[in-house]
Order: sequence, then C-alpha cells, then structure tokens
Amino acid sequence: MSFEIEQMQETHILAVVALEQECHLSSLGDIGYRKALQDPNSILLVATVELPVCSSSEVVAIFSAQMVIDELQIDNIAVAESYRQKGLATILLAEALKAAKKKGMNSAVLEVRAKNSAALKLYKRHGFIVAGYRKNYYHNPPDDALTMLLNSSKHA
Ligand SMILES: CC(C)(COP(=O)(O)OP(=O)(O)OC[C@H]1O[C@@H](n2cnc3c(N)ncnc32)[C@H](O)[C@@H]1OP(=O)(O)O)[C@@H](O)C(=O)NCCC(=O)NCCS
Repeated sequence: MSFEIEQMQETHILAVVALEQECHLSSLGDIGYRKALQDPNSILLVATVELPVCSSSEVVAIFSAQMVIDELQIDNIAVAESYRQKGLATILLAEALKAAKKKGMNSAVLEVRAKNSAALKLYKRHGFIVAGYRKNYYHNPPDDALTMLLNSSKHA
C-alpha cells in the first residue's frame, strides 16, 4: 500500500470530520478544524492514498493534537476501516511525535477507552503508559477512560 503523510489542509476537513464520525470519535468539526489550522500549536496530519481513477487522493487516516507549552495533547487518531492493521497509525503517530518534538514536546497525554485494545497497543508500542483511570467516563457504548502519558525523554 502506498500512502503519503501530509499536513492537514482546509480541503481535507470534510473527509477528516467524516472519518471521525465513522469511528464514533468526538470531532472539532468544520469550524473547529478551520480555527485549529490557523493555530501554530496544532499538529494536524492526514494520510492519503492516490485514487487511480480521477488523479485525486483520498484521506484514509487522521491525527489531531495541540501543543500546550511543552505537552502534546492528543485529540484523535483514526484510520479508515479498510486500511487498518497495516501499520498506518504506527507511522502517523511516529510522524506526529517527531513534529511535536521539533516544537519542544517534553510529554504527551491522551484519553482512550479502556476496551480499545487496538489503540492501547498502538500507544504502548510508542512508550505511553497508563497514568489515570476514570470509571464510566464514556457513553454509547459505556466504557471507562484511561489517561495515558508519554515522557518524551523515554521516547527515541
Ligand atoms: C486504533 C487505530 C487508530 C489503529 O490503527 P491501525 O492503523 O490499524 O494500527 P497499526 O496497524 O499501526 O497497529 C498498531 C498496533 O495495534 C495493533 N492492532 C491494530 N488493530 C488491532 C486490533 N483490532 N486488535 C488488536 N490489536 C490491533 C497492531 O497489531 C499493532 O501492534 P504491534 O505494533 O504490537 O504489532 C484504529 O484501529 C482506529 O482507527 N480505530 C478507531 C478509532 C480509534 O479508536 N482511535 C483511537 C482513539 S483514542
């Protein structure tokens, strides 16, 4: 599979929000992403694949986060269902952490459903550890939340 990791642009927003909705993730939405794209503290990436038919590309994965001083606060990472388990999220997260380090990241934080074993594996593989627990934090379907932290000095 050949894909490209790119900075998110306004032209991607519709597809980004649609992918977040497909994955039942909360989203900044159209207006929120337009604002975030103007913010130098945002880290917004997409993975795209070329569509052979009309020489355009399709968004197949997204990453969104912002730097707050030296902490990367990760909002979302999502991969379209038919592109999962091919290493795409691993590459996207590695690129995002590299970009965050260039912006002075010392730590990263995120919240994840306790039953989301794919996401937990992804984050643990990148050095995140479970640092907190919120019982019944999520609804539809109900789930607990885990707060995960990455100490950048422990990340290669
Ligand atoms: C979580 C998600 C982003 C992973 O994307 P992906 O491209 O399939 O992940 P990768 O192929 O890079 O795999 C990452 C790791 O997770 C594991 N993994 C991926 N999907 C898995 C699954 N369904 N079950 C168990 N492990 C899984 C892989 O084996 C890999 O582990 P390894 O490095 O030890 O081999 C994807 O499943 C997704 O978009 N889910 C819906 C949105 C979501 O839950 N986002 C996270 C919000 S916090």
